[in-house]
Amino acid sequence: NWQLSDFAELTIQQIRQHVGKRRVICGLSGGVDSSVVAALLYKAIGPQLTCILIDNGLLRKNEQALVIDEFTNHFKADLHVVNAEDRFLASLAGITEPQEKRRRIGHDFIECFKKEAEEIENAHFLAQGTLYPDVIESGADPDGPAATIKLHHNVGGLPDELGFELIEPLRDLFKDEVRRLGLELGLPEKLVWRHPFPGPGLAVRCLGEVTRDKLVVLRAADAIVIEEIEAAGLYRETSQTFAVLLPVQSVGVMGDARTYDNAIAVRSVNTNDFMTADWSRLPYDLLARISTRIINEVKGVNRVCYDISSKPPATIEWE
Ligand code: XMP
Repeated sequence: NWQLSDFAELTIQQIRQHVGKRRVICGLSGGVDSSVVAALLYKAIGPQLTCILIDNGLLRKNEQALVIDEFTNHFKADLHVVNAEDRFLASLAGITEPQEKRRRIGHDFIECFKKEAEEIENAHFLAQGTLYPDVIESGADPDGPAATIKLHHNVGGLPDELGFELIEPLRDLFKDEVRRLGLELGLPEKLVWRHPFPGPGLAVRCLGEVTRDKLVVLRAADAIVIEEIEAAGLYRETSQTFAVLLPVQSVGVMGDARTYDNAIAVRSVNTNDFMTADWSRLPYDLLARISTRIINEVKGVNRVCYDISSKPPATIEWE
């Protein structure tokens, strides 16, 4: 695609000129946008880039390792990984209200990022994966729900108080252009086509109070959902697919014993813009495999449901 390769070339030159000899920090989330930003910056300024990955303990199975792997395979940039699981779980203890969960995660994220960034010498810029739709959205309604969500939870949304000059090289692009740019820059297909994952991570899919034990169950179930949808060749056919741990126990029977265990909901949606969405018509056989595997392999789960609600009136996430 000649237009995007021109865009990449031009942007890389502009960044180089603008940054000079100073240092740029970039938050890495494992998502497409922050990865493409990091790739562009690395091409432009190489060793002057420092990436920060905050592991909030709310990531999916193997996600931290995967991000580090993909990242170090493609760039040799300076990468700081902050293991902050204890801190996030401590501030989530006893909290069940979804917005309060989000608020605490957002706050901890900013604090962790700030602390790490302060230790990086000569850091002047912060690179963010703001896209064109984000620019429009926040322009139209800076205090609207969408803007608030994004401001607090996306890596691409740290507040001004950090005191860095912003670099937002994706400001003119739509998501599909960002994906094509990612491929153009040599990022792997798997990363470029990854489903979006919310900033508050598994916390909004672990309904009610978030605990380490519940996260273990949810992570295992979610990994099975993703494995099976990939094995069926349907990952790219859906926009977002994941497991949710419900805050209920239900009765089951195993051998000749009664069980009273957790229920998992499987959510899969198709959407163009994430503002409206329809539930994915996944094949029954695939749903059967997912259910059997979760119940057999994940200790503490005896029931699996499939979410057949569209947005609106439901939302994609459950919290
Ligand atoms: P809903 O659940 O509102 O989700 O239909 C729409 C899209 O936004 C994602 N989402 C979030 N992303 N921080 C984020 O970065 C959040 O707090 C958040 N809540 C929802 C959701 O995964 C879906 O792609």
